[in-house]
Amino acid sequence: MNTSQSSQLSARNAQFIPGGVVSLNRKVEPDLVFVKGKGAYLWDADGNEYLDYHAAFGPYLLGHGELEIENAVKAAIDNNWTLTGSGTTKWEGRAAELVVKNVPSVEMAQFTTTGSEATYLALRLARAHTGCDHIVLMQGGYNGWHDEVACNVMTPLEVVGPRVENGEYPFCPISAGMPSDIAKRVHVINFNDLQSLELMFQKYDVACVMSEPILQNIGVVKPHEGYLEGVRDLCDRYGVVWVMDEVKTGFRHALGGYQSLKGVLPDLCVFGKAIANGYPVGAIGGKAEIMNLFAHADASKRVLIAGTYNAHPVTMAAAIATMEKLEREQDTLYPQLESMGAKVQDGLQALFDEFEIPVSISRQGSAFCVYFMDHLPRDWHDIAENHDMEKDVRYRRALIEKGIYNFPLPTKQGSVSTAHNEADIEQTLQATRDVLEVGI
Ligand SMILES: Cc1ncc(COP(=O)(O)O)c(C=O)c1O
Repeated sequence: MNTSQSSQLSARNAQFIPGGVVSLNRKVEPDLVFVKGKGAYLWDADGNEYLDYHAAFGPYLLGHGELEIENAVKAAIDNNWTLTGSGTTKWEGRAAELVVKNVPSVEMAQFTTTGSEATYLALRLARAHTGCDHIVLMQGGYNGWHDEVACNVMTPLEVVGPRVENGEYPFCPISAGMPSDIAKRVHVINFNDLQSLELMFQKYDVACVMSEPILQNIGVVKPHEGYLEGVRDLCDRYGVVWVMDEVKTGFRHALGGYQSLKGVLPDLCVFGKAIANGYPVGAIGGKAEIMNLFAHADASKRVLIAGTYNAHPVTMAAAIATMEKLEREQDTLYPQLESMGAKVQDGLQALFDEFEIPVSISRQGSAFCVYFMDHLPRDWHDIAENHDMEKDVRYRRALIEKGIYNFPLPTKQGSVSTAHNEADIEQTLQATRDVLEVGI
């Protein structure tokens, strides 16, 4: 595969951009430079074509350049939907209405540009609501790049230490430059571990527990039966705000988020990614009692929400078009995603069985992950102890050589979109067979 143009562009950009790329989470080997995406496909600077399962870390539920969304964006520009920065707009009202109408726990909603801003504001709301400083996060969860949540994602075993059964892990920052006292108020525990959660609530004055309902930044780690109900119950008993981070699960698994599938409702929830099919929109919503802190009559109790680009009309056009399409077509789109996801999972499982490579494939609808271990993971520690990370990377890189793009880092989620068709899945399975025949 010729990737010389990619290499040249990367080298050129590295002269001006530290690390050569604007989000260092995107820096991987092979160092491809993509120049175009359409439907389920991506093209790099050398003209190589790839079937895309990365979906830019998740937003492209409807595929790249989906016509209805693109037309809504073009119409917004043509109709001079410009940013005025004064007062409200009819577009942010309509987008908020769609979130409130479709997400069961959301009585009021606000918009940001990214998921990280939404999680940041959720922490502020929770602290203002409870008067408490401490927060609880999950080892293996990702909630954005800002101080306090930028910690403990894919922490190596030698750093995170032995499994903690009833207690917390050390705070392991994934960034330098954070205030040193953060570790005192951020408590990291295992996912699927209610005992440790209760212990945190007993030991500290906790404002909120913030967690993805499925850990989708280390593949697809699902909640055990009764776990989410247990979190709800503990938060109610201890007066802690439950922030469900649906930035990855929201709109991908159901229009109403994963919460609508489980029927367990958080106090606050945050969205991003699939809400606008690739355009920069974040959202925060939840109980009116907490959300109204953004507009409290007493300035000393008011939580600041601001941002020049919040609810930019062009991105609102994308969010409205995406949500309206999902609303109109949910009865066909989500079953289609489920069926395509199942085809990928079943086809891959059959191939790995045939080649006698032990894997466990975890999947929720259109999101999947192949774990090179003999059981489905319950949390990050389980993955760190049992998953063959090196084999995972070799597998991903070998598939890229065959034109199938899974993000080449271990445990990164694969995402099917409504643009993936049966022939695409067949092509994926054939490429996988070719890779397994040679060996990984
Ligand atoms: C679950 C989750 N929360 C929050 C974020 C942060 O969103 P953004 O990258 O838009 O700031 C991400 C991003 O990957 C995420 O996966």
